[in-house]
Amino acid sequence: MNPGMVTAAYIVAAILFILSLAGLSNQETARRGNLFGIAGMAIAVLATIFGADVTSYTWLIIMMAIGGSIGAFLASRVQMTEMPELVAILHSFVGLAAVLVGFASYLDPDSHLEGAAGTIHNVEIYLGILIGALTFTGSVVAFGKLNGKIGSQPLMLPHRHLLNLGIGVVCIILLFIFLGTGKGAGVAILVLMTLLAFAFGIHMVMAIGGADMPVVISMLNSYSGWAAAATGFMLSNDLLIVVGALVGSSGAILSYIMCRAMNRKFLSVIMGGFGNAPTSTATDGDEEQGEVVSISAEEVAQLCKDANSVVVVPGYGMAVAHAQHPVSELTTQLKKAGVDVKFAIHPVAGRMPGHMNVLLAEANVPYDLVLEMDEINDELGEVDVVIVIGANDIVNPSALENPNSPIAGMPVLEVWNAKQVIVSKRGMATGYAGVENPLFFRENTRMLFGDAKDSVNAILTSL
Ligand code: TAP
Repeated sequence: MNPGMVTAAYIVAAILFILSLAGLSNQETARRGNLFGIAGMAIAVLATIFGADVTSYTWLIIMMAIGGSIGAFLASRVQMTEMPELVAILHSFVGLAAVLVGFASYLDPDSHLEGAAGTIHNVEIYLGILIGALTFTGSVVAFGKLNGKIGSQPLMLPHRHLLNLGIGVVCIILLFIFLGTGKGAGVAILVLMTLLAFAFGIHMVMAIGGADMPVVISMLNSYSGWAAAATGFMLSNDLLIVVGALVGSSGAILSYIMCRAMNRKFLSVIMGGFGNAPTSTATDGDEEQGEVVSISAEEVAQLCKDANSVVVVPGYGMAVAHAQHPVSELTTQLKKAGVDVKFAIHPVAGRMPGHMNVLLAEANVPYDLVLEMDEINDELGEVDVVIVIGANDIVNPSALENPNSPIAGMPVLEVWNAKQVIVSKRGMATGYAGVENPLFFRENTRMLFGDAKDSVNAILTSL
C-alpha cells in the first residue's frame, strides 16, 4: 500500500472510532458502536501491516499469532464478573507497550534527528515512557485491588503527597539532564526515570481506598490513552495519536463523571489527592444497629404481587451470582401481573462503569425500564417495594447521614424512602468500601439471605 492509501485508511478508521464512541454512549446504540470499533481497528491493523514501514512479515506474523492467541484464549474464558480486572490489565499492556516503544525509539540506530526536531523527539520519548510506566504499574495494582489479591484499604505512607511531589520534581529535573546528554547516559536516565514512574504508579493506586476505585479505573483508562498518543508521536503514526487522544479524553470525561458520582473533586483526583477520607473506622454504623429481620422468598413474592410498583437495585452481588437472567424473568412475570417494574442504576454499581447496564442488556431487560440514579431517586418515596440485589455501598444511608463515614458525601440510591425494602445478599458482609450499612437494620427493611440467583429463582417459583 502506498502512503496515500495508508493515510486514507487511517482517516476512515479514525472516523469509525469516533462513531464507535458516539454509539457506546447509549445502550440502544452500543452494539452498533462496538461494530464500528471492530471495523475501525481491522482497517487500522490491515493498513499498518501492508504499509511501507513493514519490511519483514516473519516477526510480525509470529508476534501477532502469539498475541492474538493469548487474547482470544483469555477473552473466551473471562467471566462477566472478571471484566473489570481484564480492563485494568489491558490498560497495563498499553502502558508497558509505550515504555518498550519509547526505549526502542531512543535506541533506534536509524534515527538521526538533529536540533529542535531531535529535542522534540526526545521529549516525546521521555513523556511516553513516563506516562506508560506509571500506567503500567498503576494498572497492575488496580488489577490486584479489583480481584481482591491486594486489600482495598488505602496505603497511607507518611508525607505521601510530598513523596509524590518529590518524584514529580525529580522527573522534571531528569528531563532537562536527559535533553542535554548523549545516548549512553541518556539510557541510564531513562531507566532511572522509568523506575521512579513505576514506583509512582504503585504508590498512587495503593493510596486509594475502596470507594474511590471507580475514579482510578477511569483515570488509568485516560492515562493509557495518553500513553498511546505519546507512542503515536514517537512512531510518527497519526492514527495512534488520534486514537490515543480519543481514549485519553473520553477517559478523562469518564473520570469527571465518576468524580461527580462519588462526590470527589476532579482536581484533587488528578493531583493524587485521594484517601483524604474522614478518619472514622469502617464500623461506624455499629452505633445505630438494631435488629435484622429476615424474610422468605414466598413472602417477597407475595409482597411483589400486592405491589403497584417495584424497583430493582442491582449491585456487584448480582454479577457474582449471575442473577441477571432470573432477575429479567422476574421483571417479565411481574409486568405480566400488572406491576410497574423499574431498575435503578447507581453510576458506580458493580466494579466498572456501566457494569450493571451490560449485565441487564445481556439478560434482555428492556432499556426503557433501566433508569439512572438521578432519574429515579426522587421517585423512590412513592415506590411500594424496592428489591436490592447484591448491592451494598450504593444504598448505604450513612453516606448521607454520617459525616464521619468513609463514604460520606457520596450520592446513593435512597431506597430507604420506599415503603418496603428487601435486601438480597448472602450474609451481613460489608461491600467494597468495607463500611457497615445501617439500611439492613431499618424498620422497613427485610433481609432475604442467600445467593442472589437462588433467592430470585425461589421468588419466581413462588410467583
Ligand atoms: P458492594 O458494595 O461491593 O456490595 C456487594 C454486596 O454483594 C456485598 O455486600 C455482598 O454481601 C453481596 N454479594 C456478593 N456475592 C453475592 C451473591 N452471590 N449473592 C448475593 N449477594 C452477594 O457493591 P455495590 O453496592 O454494587 O457497590 C459498588 C462498590 O464497588 C462501591 O464501593 C464502588 O465504589 C466500588 N467500585 C466500583 C467500581 C465501578 S467503576 N463501578 C470500580 C471499583 C470499585 P454478602 O457477602 O453478604 O453476600
